[in-house]
Amino acid sequence: MNEHVTLSTPAEQTVERPNSRKVFIKTYGCQMNVYDSTRMADALASDGYVTTEDMAEADLILLNTCHIREKAADKVYSALGRLRDMKTARAAEGRELMIGVAGCVAQAEGEEIIRRAPAVDVVIGPQTYHRLPEALRRARAGDRVVETDYAVEDKFEHLPVAEQAKIRARGVTSFLTVQEGCDKFCTFCVVPYTRGSEVSRPIRQILDEARRLVDGGVREITLLGQNVNAWRAEGPKGGEWGLGDLLYSLAEIPGLARLRYTTSHPRDMDDKLIEAHRDLRALMPYLHLPVQAGSDRILKAMNRRHTAEEYLRLIDRIRAARPDIAMSGDFIVGFPGETDRDFEDTIRIVEEVNYAQAFSFKYSPRPGTPGADLPDHVPEEVKAERLERLQALLLKQQAAFAKSCIGKVIDILLEKPGRNPRQVIGRSPWLQSVNVDAKTSQIGDIIQVRIIGSGPNSLFSEPIQSLINY
Ligand code: 5AD
Ligand code: SF4
Repeated sequence: MNEHVTLSTPAEQTVERPNSRKVFIKTYGCQMNVYDSTRMADALASDGYVTTEDMAEADLILLNTCHIREKAADKVYSALGRLRDMKTARAAEGRELMIGVAGCVAQAEGEEIIRRAPAVDVVIGPQTYHRLPEALRRARAGDRVVETDYAVEDKFEHLPVAEQAKIRARGVTSFLTVQEGCDKFCTFCVVPYTRGSEVSRPIRQILDEARRLVDGGVREITLLGQNVNAWRAEGPKGGEWGLGDLLYSLAEIPGLARLRYTTSHPRDMDDKLIEAHRDLRALMPYLHLPVQAGSDRILKAMNRRHTAEEYLRLIDRIRAARPDIAMSGDFIVGFPGETDRDFEDTIRIVEEVNYAQAFSFKYSPRPGTPGADLPDHVPEEVKAERLERLQALLLKQQAAFAKSCIGKVIDILLEKPGRNPRQVIGRSPWLQSVNVDAKTSQIGDIIQVRIIGSGPNSLFSEPIQSLINY
């Protein structure tokens, strides 16, 4: 998953009862945390909470945290320091402020958070969000609560689903978690420890949730999983279904125009999934398929369990099935033992694949992962130099991809109002933001536009045909 979001959960148009409590949820980290924040908001709604975007009026502040790199976890402790002052000021006014820590830092650090951050009332791990209302009741009674077991019950069966009005207020695109956890144990990664081993949600649960979302006006669903293409479940007629089968089934839901999924491991791209890219019009031609590094020696040390050549041949097969597919990836520079030659192999694989989008990071040793104990850690300044060079190349490729879209006629899904009153922001099949002159009443429609220009983060277009919904 890409760590590129830090946002608060938008306030929703819910009927506010006079004495309802307010919750401010701050989300760090990946898309799965964004999804989890909405599910926590739903769980809290059944307990009388409404969401707010204004921290000052919140009775409960929840930090949904990320532990993937050291910096991400540090951010949480500094935020908790600021919240302690806020809580003290509130107490002086005689007003309650409760503070909760959820997500992967909660799971990884548990009791340690209670020790280091005296303002925290509740620490709750990703597998126990359905117990959040109960944890808050206990905290209100004076306990400091830590809930970080891997719950034996299925949290998704216990989490309440959003009302249709709320789904509508959240927009025309939605995440839907289908799989959690990871069994791959890449040696740099904390996910197998914070999110546990792979668990796939059953087909019925996923289809029901997808239908509810579509009934609430959602036109595009992104299936989420730490290792989403490892999703497996028992098929309706027995036998096992993989993600490819699930996508064929979701594509039949009337009104569901677009499907995406993220994040995938190269080892789990099976033939059926590749065929789905060939056959399904709803499956968008964009694939986030991290390779992390281009050197076989480093890939082995990372326990990625494939070579650079195997990754490249896999992309050949995917492109043969869906020639217009845009590739995205994640990269780590400065993994222990990475030499200049190894890094050149990373540059080479990037040149060969030609990415439309990518995320790249300096290796950050995570306590408890095998990588942290390896010898030959790379000095910070070498990591910084390598990252700069890699990012310059990736940015060049991204800009070239955007430029290559100019002149093309494409379908965009209109998602939200733009900055100017007559502008709407849409999304291209390749996940780019596209500005167009349109009415906000058209949000949720798919229209055809001609791309006329590209900026650093978005494309500009003119409408060709006002409505081509399918
Ligand atoms: N250091 C740096 N980057 C990391 N990632 C995961 N763990 C680490 C780490 N210890 C990156 C990987 C992954 C993305 C979500 O974050 O590239 O795909
Ligand atoms: Fe982490 Fe590797 Fe699993 Fe991705 S596949 S979540 S990088 S262990």
